[in-house]
Amino acid sequence: MPHSTASERIHSQFLFCCIGCDDVGDHASADFRCSRCHDLLEITYPQWSKSAASSVRADELKSTWKQRRLSSSAIDLSGVWRFREILPTLEDECQAITLREGNTPLYEMPRCARISGVPRLFAKHQGMNPTGSFKDTGMTVAASFARQAGFQWVACASTGNTSASMAAYAARGGLRSLVLVPEGKISWSKLSQALDYGAVTCQLRTDFDGCLRLLQELVLRAPVYQLNSINPFRLEGQKTLALELLEQLDWQPPDHIIVPGGNLGNSSAIGKALLEMRELGLISRLPRLSIIQAEGANALVRTLREGEGKRLVSVEAETRATAIRIGNPASWKKAVHVLEATGGACEQVSEIEIAQAKAEIGAEGIGCEPASAVTLAGLKKLLKQGFVKSEESVVLVLTGSLLKDPDFTMEFHRGDLFRGTAHECESAVLKVLRRPPIVLEATLDAVIRTLEQAEKAEPHR
Ligand code: F0G
Repeated sequence: MPHSTASERIHSQFLFCCIGCDDVGDHASADFRCSRCHDLLEITYPQWSKSAASSVRADELKSTWKQRRLSSSAIDLSGVWRFREILPTLEDECQAITLREGNTPLYEMPRCARISGVPRLFAKHQGMNPTGSFKDTGMTVAASFARQAGFQWVACASTGNTSASMAAYAARGGLRSLVLVPEGKISWSKLSQALDYGAVTCQLRTDFDGCLRLLQELVLRAPVYQLNSINPFRLEGQKTLALELLEQLDWQPPDHIIVPGGNLGNSSAIGKALLEMRELGLISRLPRLSIIQAEGANALVRTLREGEGKRLVSVEAETRATAIRIGNPASWKKAVHVLEATGGACEQVSEIEIAQAKAEIGAEGIGCEPASAVTLAGLKKLLKQGFVKSEESVVLVLTGSLLKDPDFTMEFHRGDLFRGTAHECESAVLKVLRRPPIVLEATLDAVIRTLEQAEKAEPHR
C-alpha cells in the first residue's frame, strides 16, 4: 500500500455551519448568512474526528509544513497555502491566487518589553504582508474561491486595508473589484492602493457600518462576490497567522496573544485556529487571546459589560485609528466565543494611549499603523489589572504597516495630532516621544549643533 502523507489524510472537505442555530450545509448564500436564522456561517471540517488527532499525525503535519519551506512551488511559497491541510481544498490548487502572503516575522521587542515590564514580549508583524496588512492572508483564500465559483466581480466595504488587499488579489486573479469606503474616513495610502490595483472605488457618504450594510444588500441583487470578513473563507486564511506563529515558537504556546478588534473577524479567525490546533493535537495548551478596541469604537467592550456578551451594543464609532473605526462589528458573536473559549480579556484604550504606544513601537525600529498599536496600549492595561503577569510571554499582533497611515505619524511628531481637541492638554505625556523634522540652514555648524542638542536631550539611548 502506498504511504499516504498527512496532507492526503487530512484532505480538507468542508461544510458551512451556522454559529446561531448549528444548521450545516455544503452551500452558502451570497450574503454568507444562514438561510434559517440569518446568523453568520463558519467553515467546519467534519472528517477531523477525535480519533484523527493523534500525536503521530500532529508531528507528521508539522514536518510536512516545515519541509514545504524548502519548496519552490508557488503554493508552498505562500505562507497561507503552506498550511493547506487546515484550509478548504481548491479543486485545483494551482488555481490559488497568491502574492506569497504570510511568512511574516516574529520580532522580539526589547524596548517595549522594558517599557511595559514584560520581558518576554514579541510582535507578529502582519504589516509585512504584500499589501501591508493581515488582510492578504484571508484574501488569497477567499479570492481563489470566488474565481473557482465563476464570479467576475468581487466587492467589499472597508476602512481601507481590506479594499487594498482585495483590489490586489482581484487584479492578480483577473477579477473585477468594487470598493465601498466611507468618504474622508480612510487613509490616503490605503485608498491609493485600491486605485492603483484598478478597483472601481466608491467613496460613500456614510461610515464603514453604512458601507457594509449596503454591500450586504448589493450581493443579494447582483452577481457580486463579497469579500468582507463575513465571508468565512477569509477567516480560514487568516487562521494561518496562528499556525505560523506557533511554528515560529517551536509549537510552545505563548501565555497571551493580544489582537486589535474592529469588525472582529481577525480575532475570531485566530481563536478558531487555536481551538483547531488543540483539536488536532498540534498544541496541548491554549494561549489566552485578548482583544483590544479604541475607546471611541468599543462595541465589543460594551457588549460584554452591558450586554453580558449576549446582545450587541452598537456605538457611533470615532477614533483616529481609522482601521478600527467600526461601531457595529459583524463577527461579535464569534469573538465572544473565542474570548470565552481561550479565557481572554477585552479592553479599551484611549486615543492618547494609542498614539503613545504607536510611537514606542516605532522607536523599536518596527513601526505599525495606529490600529495595531492598541495591542501594546492594551497590554499595559492588562498588566496593571493583573490579568497579564510580568513573567508571562506575550505576543502582540501588529496588523498593519507604519506606511499605511503617514498622516497620523506626521501629525503626531509635529504635535498636531490632538491640536484643538479635548485630548490636547493630556498630550503632554507624548512630548518626549516626538521627533519633529528640523528645518536648518544648509551649514555644517547647524547640523553639528543639532547633533549635540539631540545628545543632550537624550543622553542614554
Ligand atoms: N488592524 C487593522 C490594520 C485593520 O485594517 C483592521 C480592520 C483591524 C485591525 C481590525 O480587524 O476587523 O478583523 O477586527 N480593517 C478592516 C478593513 C475592517 O476594512 O480594512 P477586524
